[in-house]
Parts: sequence; C-alpha cells; structure tokens
Amino acid sequence: MITNNMKLNEIVKAYPRAVDIFNDFHIDYCCGGNDLLEDALKQRSIDSKSFIDVLNKKLEKQENIPASSEILDVDRLMEMEVPELIDYIMDTHHGKERTLLSEIDVLVNRVLLAHYTHHQDQLVPLHGLFSDLKKELEEHFAKEEKLVFPYMKQNYNEKSDAGYVKELEEEHDAAGNLIKEITACTNDFTVPDGGCPSYHLLFQKLHELIKDIYNHIFTENSLLFPKYEGGR
Ligand SMILES: [Fe+2]
Ligand SMILES: [Fe+2]
Repeated sequence: MITNNMKLNEIVKAYPRAVDIFNDFHIDYCCGGNDLLEDALKQRSIDSKSFIDVLNKKLEKQENIPASSEILDVDRLMEMEVPELIDYIMDTHHGKERTLLSEIDVLVNRVLLAHYTHHQDQLVPLHGLFSDLKKELEEHFAKEEKLVFPYMKQNYNEKSDAGYVKELEEEHDAAGNLIKEITACTNDFTVPDGGCPSYHLLFQKLHELIKDIYNHIFTENSLLFPKYEGGR
C-alpha cells in the first residue's frame, strides 16, 4: 500500500508499475527519487488523497497481470552484484539509447527542414535541446564506461570514494532538466495538426528515449549507487 510519506524511489522499488503513472503526471522518480510522494504531488498541485487512492486501486488491479518487458524488474536488479548490474545497465540502457539518439538525430534534422515554415517555434528549440541532450549523454556514457564503472567494479568492497557518485548524480540532474524542457517543448509529445509521418516518428522515438532514460537514471541513482556505497 502506497502512502504519502514514502519516497518516490521506495515506491518504484516496491511497485515498479507505478512508473507509468508517475510518467503520466510528470512525477520525477529518477533524479527526484529521494523526494517524498507528498512533496512531489504538492509541487505539481495534485490532490494527494485522491491521487494515492487511484494509484493504489490501479496497482491492485494490475497485480495479477503478467509484467511486460518494459516494466522494471526491480527484484531481479536488486539481487545483482555491482559488476553484474553495471553490465546490465550498459547492455540495455546505453545500447538502446545510443541507437535511439542516432535515429532521432537524423529525424530531428529532417523534420526541421520539412516543417520549418510552419513549426519553427517548436522545432528550432527542440533541435537545440536534443543536440544538448545527445552531447551530454554521449560524454556521460563514455565517462561511465571508460572511467567510473571500471573503478566501481574494482572498488565496491573497498573503503574508498573518488566522489564519482556525486558527479554522476549531478550529470543525471542536468540531463533530467533537458528532458523536462523537451517534454514541455513538444507539448508532451503531441504532434501538431498537419505533422507528417516523420514528425510522428520523431515524437514517438523521443518519448521512447526519455522513458528509457528515466528507468536508466532510476537504476543508477536508486539501485546501483546505494549498492556500491553500501559495499564500502
Ligand atoms: Fe548510465
Ligand atoms: Fe548515468
């Protein structure tokens, strides 16, 4: 049973299906995972009692429905040791997001060109925000894969801290802020009237990327880092 004094990351650990509902209401369970549900709802001017009632009822109804592959398998991830969890993050999230970033890179340029005349107010800022996100993520993945993750794999049982967790969390916050701007800029991934199939595909892939990044950041901030720090 979810209550308003639970932290967002505790809720997702216990009820991974809550992610869909949090995404629908723009409740940030990844970078803001340590916030209390009550505070997150207050911030978005959502009535906490009715929201929590609906949330509990929805989750109760879904209990016996088998989980789809899109739902975080938190129990399995929590059982993994640090090296195994790192490999999982690289194989799934880094791989999928690299593919999506390069597909969206082509699409965003194509749509900018095709719809510049009527939709420049949306597409020019979107083009800039996506370029910033792509740059930040590519550099962040390189830092994790070449520097921090090898360090964590070797040192998770040692009493040492190179300050990497704080650095990565700050980079996650920066990506999270860009994602919020992209979500607002696209009107929550709503294609304007007259948008061509490429416009639809662009928004669909952007949405897919962003949902994956949320799960990715949650897995690092709320599962990997506490596990790494708990081992020290
Ligand atoms: Fe990562
Ligand atoms: Fe990361």
